[in-house]
Parts: sequence; structure tokens; C-alpha cells
Amino acid sequence: MIDLCAARSVRIATLTILIFLTTGYLLSASTLAFGWRNTFAPARIESWPYVEVVVHDGKEWPYRTFKSSAWMPPNMTITRNEGALAKGYYIFTAKNRRHSGVLVQSAPVIMTDDNELVYAHDGPYGANNFRVQEVNGKPHLTVWLGESVTGHGYGQFYTIDETYEVQTSLFSGNVALQSLGAGKKAPGLSDFHEQEMTERGTVYMVAYNNTQVNLTSIGGKEDGWLSDSLIYEVNMTTGETLFTWSAKDHIPLEASKLPIKSYMGDGSKGHPWDHFHINSVQEIGENLLINSRHTFAMYLLSRKTGEVLWELSGRGEGGDFGPLAEADRFKWHHQARAHNVTEDGMTISIFDNHNMQEDNDTAPTRGLVLRVDLPPDASKPPTVLSSVRGDEPFYVGSQGSYDPALENGNQLMCYGPVPVIQEFGPNGEVRWEGRFGRDDTVQSYRAFKSEWHATPADWDPRLHVEKIHDSARQDEQQVEGYVSWNGATDVTGWNVHVRRGGAWSNMGRADRKGFETVFRVAAPEGCVVVGAVMDGVEVRRSNEVCL
Ligand SMILES: *[C@@H]1O[C@H](CO)[C@@H](O)[C@H](O)[C@H]1NC(C)=O
Ligand SMILES: *[C@@H]1O[C@H](CO)[C@@H](O)[C@H](O)[C@H]1NC(C)=O
Ligand SMILES: *[C@@H]1O[C@H](CO)[C@@H](O)[C@H](O)[C@H]1NC(C)=O
Ligand SMILES: *[C@@H]1O[C@H](CO)[C@@H](O)[C@H](O)[C@H]1NC(C)=O
Ligand SMILES: *[C@@H]1O[C@H](CO)[C@@H](O)[C@H](O)[C@H]1NC(C)=O
Ligand SMILES: *[C@@H]1O[C@H](CO)[C@@H](O)[C@H](O)[C@H]1NC(C)=O
Repeated sequence: MIDLCAARSVRIATLTILIFLTTGYLLSASTLAFGWRNTFAPARIESWPYVEVVVHDGKEWPYRTFKSSAWMPPNMTITRNEGALAKGYYIFTAKNRRHSGVLVQSAPVIMTDDNELVYAHDGPYGANNFRVQEVNGKPHLTVWLGESVTGHGYGQFYTIDETYEVQTSLFSGNVALQSLGAGKKAPGLSDFHEQEMTERGTVYMVAYNNTQVNLTSIGGKEDGWLSDSLIYEVNMTTGETLFTWSAKDHIPLEASKLPIKSYMGDGSKGHPWDHFHINSVQEIGENLLINSRHTFAMYLLSRKTGEVLWELSGRGEGGDFGPLAEADRFKWHHQARAHNVTEDGMTISIFDNHNMQEDNDTAPTRGLVLRVDLPPDASKPPTVLSSVRGDEPFYVGSQGSYDPALENGNQLMCYGPVPVIQEFGPNGEVRWEGRFGRDDTVQSYRAFKSEWHATPADWDPRLHVEKIHDSARQDEQQVEGYVSWNGATDVTGWNVHVRRGGAWSNMGRADRKGFETVFRVAAPEGCVVVGAVMDGVEVRRSNEVCL
């Protein structure tokens, strides 16, 4: 049986080489793929991931470099225990904050749990909220790209399909832009905090609008300025606005816990006051759950009327519910998400910063899951089901995300300006931690963990080849190849083709290892090309390198 197979594959391989000789390189590529698919296990070529970590004088965070790619992702410091991790990749934006030179390259990235880059997204603007969402029933990467100024962004929402084709939103909200500072241009007017796709092919986005208001009731000027929080639901196909909501029209200015003068502004035209600071929106049936950093509350809104149906926390420490116990209160928080919604109630998770620049070191930042019984009852406070954080306390003054429900019950937390991502087990013990910068120099607004399958349409695998000198093998010229294909998630191996004389031959297959695979092969003269293998089939060839 074994012999029979071997004989057949040799015959097919021979046939392939004959076709090579007569028809040349291009036609043979498909024949080769077919011939080798079912019948022949190509020779294994030794391969390993290329790891070069660059450490500077201590100012820059250590980063990886490659020979076939210009990407230089942060070298994450990873600690983990034996606990099982959720399936998928970590998806976040590693970007510089305030100081220059701390990351050599800021970019939205997809990384494996063992520090390997999978995809880095190139773009001229800052990025936030990089993640996987369904767009018209199919997984897409979604990301906001734009310019930011003290906690507000002005940019565009992009969706990226499984071939990395990019589509832009057509957001055209009625938004008055804040001054971005010299040399900065807003590529759009949507803010970075939220872009929630719906099954209807629409997206909820938020925006900040600078508008004049009477601020005397809270100690400001009669002709003061507000950075109003707006929600937009936009049809992704047409850009049509289907829903708009303004915090100014529904939430009294007096509800704000942000002083009129803070690092966030002072109520002047140049530095408007941000009374509400919306940072999350989630559709729940006919309603929306929204989160306000500056009123220390979350709200359920009617999508039909925009009316507030209930408030949780905030007013009287309970809103429409009973007051939360002191230890259960949250402040300066992010990302309210409802889970297990029924008529009688729901659970709500939040990233409870509990700190901000001018109210810091108060209590460590944590992930909270609250049980909320409905309808709201002023005598019944929500209860805390779980409170999660690692042993090391972080005091996170802005940003952050918390997902208590990864596919296997694990939980994910991202600490914003503390550039750390932690994956917890269902019971709250840290199973994995990745740090990608020093505190307050590098940040990621949020992080996600998702499965993602993609093959780039517009760029090919990149190959770099070097001659090596192996004293044990004086008789033949050995070369080392370095190959990567940014974003190609499902490549399992690389067919290595070498030109000997006039004809190409397949030297075998190198298993894919990490972002950049290194392999070694004898190449007596001439040129090397590699072919990316998926499901046993060669799908795309790299550039050709001749020595
Ligand atoms: C790079 O990251 C790996 C994985 O966390 C770690 O083992 C290694 O020590 C890091 N190298 C440097 C120079 O930081
Ligand atoms: C935004 O503010 C401007 C004034 O600066 C105002 O004319 C406009 O109506 C506001 N937009 C919304 C949606 O409230
Ligand atoms: C501004 O609000 C105060 C009360 O907070 C009121 O007394 C005053 O008349 C208002 N000014 C204008 C121009 O409406
Ligand atoms: C979005 O626009 C498309 C194209 O006009 C339309 O077919 C679709 O029904 C719209 N979706 C919604 C939710 O309005
Ligand atoms: C949702 O309900 C399931 C089943 O009771 C439970 O295991 C899970 O922890 C709940 N999720 C959240 C986020 O409350
Ligand atoms: C805490 O706030 C004080 C006063 O604004 C500031 O000087 C200090 O740097 C802050 N610390 C942190 C860790 O943000």
C-alpha cells in the first residue's frame, strides 16, 4: 500500500518536471499544485520563526524586526500559567502616547498569544477600536482611523473584508469640530469610542459636537461651550442617518461629575466642557444601552423616542435603582455591555476605571459584572456578580475595555494607557498577560480576542534570501530564505522552488513558523521563489530572489 502510493507520486512528480521543462514556469505552477496535492508529501525543509528583538537605550520599548517585512511590532512581555486560553488572536492598537520614540511603529495589530504578529494595518492616521465584527453576516475587521484631541476623535469608520479590501463609512453627521491643533486635519467627523454594527447593515457611532450653552448653573459662563455627546445610527451602504441622539437634550448638565475646569476643558470655545462623555452604545432589542464616563452612570434609551427609560447609578448613587453599596460603585468607567437579557433583567459588564487624571489612585481599576433586575425598583440596588482584576493593581485614568464572555468563558481586559492585556479564566485568575509598552507611553483604547481568517488579495508573500556559509557543507551553496505574508492567517507551509539551470524544481516544503518563517535550502545557483500553501494547495507565489 505504502509502496504503491510512493510509486504513484514519483510518477506524478516526474511528469510535473517534464511539463516544467516543456511549458516553463507559469503553466507548471497549477500542475504542480494539483500533482502534489493528494499524492505526494513534499520533502520537509527545516524551518523556524525568525526572532530578532531590538533593544535600544531604554527609551524605546523592545521591538521585533523582520527581513522580509518592514513591520516592527512591540515585543510583548508575556506571562502565562497552564490555564486554557480562548481561541483566537489578540487584536489591539499599539500606539504612542504623548512621548515620541517609545514605539518605533504605532499600528493596529493582530497578535498570537506567543508574541507573533499576524497582521499589522498600515494607515496615515491614529487608530482605535480595531476588532472583528459581522458586516452583512460575514466577519470583517473594523477600525476607526482619525485624529484625536483630549479624549475626542474626528475620523472615519472602516470595514475590512477577508481579502483586506477596505470600505469606508459615509458618516456625515451635523458636527462642529474642535480645534485639532496645527497641522492636523480631521479625515472625518465620527468619534473613536464606539462603532457597533447591527445585523441590519447599520452601525452605531458616536460624535462630539462643540456647541454653545448656558453654563451658569454649574459655575460656568452664560455663553459657555459644550462638547456634546451624540449618537448616530448610519446605514453603511448609503450613509443615511437613521437615528440621532444628543446628551445635551436628555441629560441635565447638573448630572455631570466632571468639574467645569479639568484637564478635559474649561467651558471655553477652545476647550469646551464635556458633561457626559459617551463611550459605548449597544443595541438591545428596541432600545440602546449607553455609557457615560462623566455622570458615573449608564442609561437605557428608547430607539423610537430617544427618551431615557432608566438610569443605573449616577443620580443618588442608584439612578432608577436602589443605591449601590459604596464598594460596588463605579466611576470614570468604559464599555457597558449587556449579557443574558430577559424580560426580568440582565447582567451588565463594565470596565470600572475608578480613576482619572485628577482623581487618581483611588481604588484599583477592575472589571465589574452587575445583575440588574427589571423593571427598575428604587428600593432594589443592582448586585455585583463578579469583580475582576490581576494581583498587580492598575490605576487606569482613561480608556480600557472588559469582556467577561470570551467563547470558552474566559475574560479579557485591556488597560488603556497601561499597555497591558490580561486574559482571565472564568473564575478571575490571570491566565495570560501581554505587556507591549511602558505605562503612560504606549496605549490601546480597547483590546479584543477573536478568530480571524483572511488571505490578502492585493499583496503577495514577501521573500528575502541570504547566502550562508556552512563549513560542514563546502560542496554546495546553502541559502536561508525569510518569508512572510502580512495578514495571511491560514498559510500552513511554504513550497520552496529553486532554479537549477534553466528549470525550476520544488525542493520541498517548509512549515510556516510565526510571522516570518526562516528555511534553509541548497541553491547551487540562480533564483528562489516560495509558494504559500493552504489546505495542501499552493495558492500564491512570492517575489523571485536571484543571488
Ligand atoms: C521578547 O518577548 C519574549 C516573549 O515574551 C520574551 O521571552 C523576551 O525576553 C523578550 N525580549 C526582550 C528583549 O524584551
Ligand atoms: C452641533 O452644534 C452646532 C453649533 O455649533 C449646531 O448648529 C448643530 O445643530 C449641532 N448638531 C447637533 C446634531 O446637535
Ligand atoms: C442662564 O442660566 C441661568 C440659570 O442657571 C439663568 O438665570 C439665566 O437667565 C440664563 N441665561 C440665559 C441667557 O438664558
Ligand atoms: C440601507 O440602504 C440600502 C440601500 O438603499 C437599503 O437597501 C437598506 O434597506 C437600508 N437599510 C436600512 C436598515 O435602512
Ligand atoms: C450568562 O448566563 C450563563 C448561564 O447562566 C452564565 O454561565 C454566564 O456567566 C452569564 N454571562 C454573564 C456575562 O453574566
Ligand atoms: C494624579 O493627580 C495629580 C494631580 O493632578 C498628578 O500630579 C499626578 O501626576 C497624577 N498621578 C497619576 C498616576 O496620574
